[in-house]
Amino acid sequence: MKYRMMWAVFTALALGVPSCLAAADPIVIRFSHVVAADAPKGKAAEFFRDRAETLTGGRVRVEVHPNSQLYKDREELEALQLGAVQMLAPSLAKFGPLGLREFEVFDLPYIFADDKALKQVTNGPIGRRLLASLEGRGIKGLAYWDNGFKSFSGNAPIRHPDDLRGKRMRIQASKVLETQMLALGAVPHMMAFSDVYGALRAGVVDGTENPHSNLYTQRMHEVQKHLTVSDHGYLGYAVITNKKFWDGLPRGVRRQLEQAMREASDYANRIAREENERALDAVRAAGTTEIHVLDEAGRAAFRAALLPVHQAMAERIGPELIRAIYDATGFDPQQP
Ligand code: LMR
Repeated sequence: MKYRMMWAVFTALALGVPSCLAAADPIVIRFSHVVAADAPKGKAAEFFRDRAETLTGGRVRVEVHPNSQLYKDREELEALQLGAVQMLAPSLAKFGPLGLREFEVFDLPYIFADDKALKQVTNGPIGRRLLASLEGRGIKGLAYWDNGFKSFSGNAPIRHPDDLRGKRMRIQASKVLETQMLALGAVPHMMAFSDVYGALRAGVVDGTENPHSNLYTQRMHEVQKHLTVSDHGYLGYAVITNKKFWDGLPRGVRRQLEQAMREASDYANRIAREENERALDAVRAAGTTEIHVLDEAGRAAFRAALLPVHQAMAERIGPELIRAIYDATGFDPQQP
């Protein structure tokens, strides 16, 4: 992987331009992502490819590389900044290591009561400001794509926060998620998405959290005996591109790509919920994993254990941002 990255740097430096622009025609967009081709993000990336190629009349060719085939989580962000790939859609939890801690606000447990509350943020001034904040890192934010609300999985039933005490839980690279697991008495393990299935199978970690579509399309259900529908947090994506590449596109092409991205975003945000419901049905049908739905007492216990994470992370994320989201969505942290 190191050699691949070095080669990408060498190419970009030697040509003095983003490598994809070196060939005049067609313009190639390498769109790398870490999930399966049939996960919601994978499907939306292919939808974007088809619309981009059609709308530009073939002037743009989009190569979609799923399943961390090109780069893992951290590497893909470096590759984008270096111009070795042109498009990504990392989960919002993965921008903290770039120094963009505000994005971790999306990881706060229960901060979005439902899709409507989420859209108040992503479609409004807060969402736009967060995307604009990427520009200082040479990144242009194009859109938000949904996945959905997360469930816990493990090899023992999870009905109450105490069931996670001492369990090694895989998390994404987010300090908020780390604090969330610590608040449950679990032991957080940050790990790239591509390593999770192997780590669960080998028993390096006991469990994890993700929306059902990610769990199912990575076959995690084969190595997790229990799944708890907890809806305790949100997982979504920012679709991003290399700013220099984007600004250097012919204006007409950029407009066509913006249109393709609008259509792909509508598609992504339309299918995500249904894909997650379908994945849960598929896990049930596979018969490998017992599915639990938290009862009222279980929900209340998780909420009580996890809401203090907002306060604990306020300094890191920015109390004004958290307050602005409460105001935009009507969220009341005092309400049990
Ligand atoms: C994860 O790493 O758990 C997910 O964010 C992967 C993804 O991109 O959906």
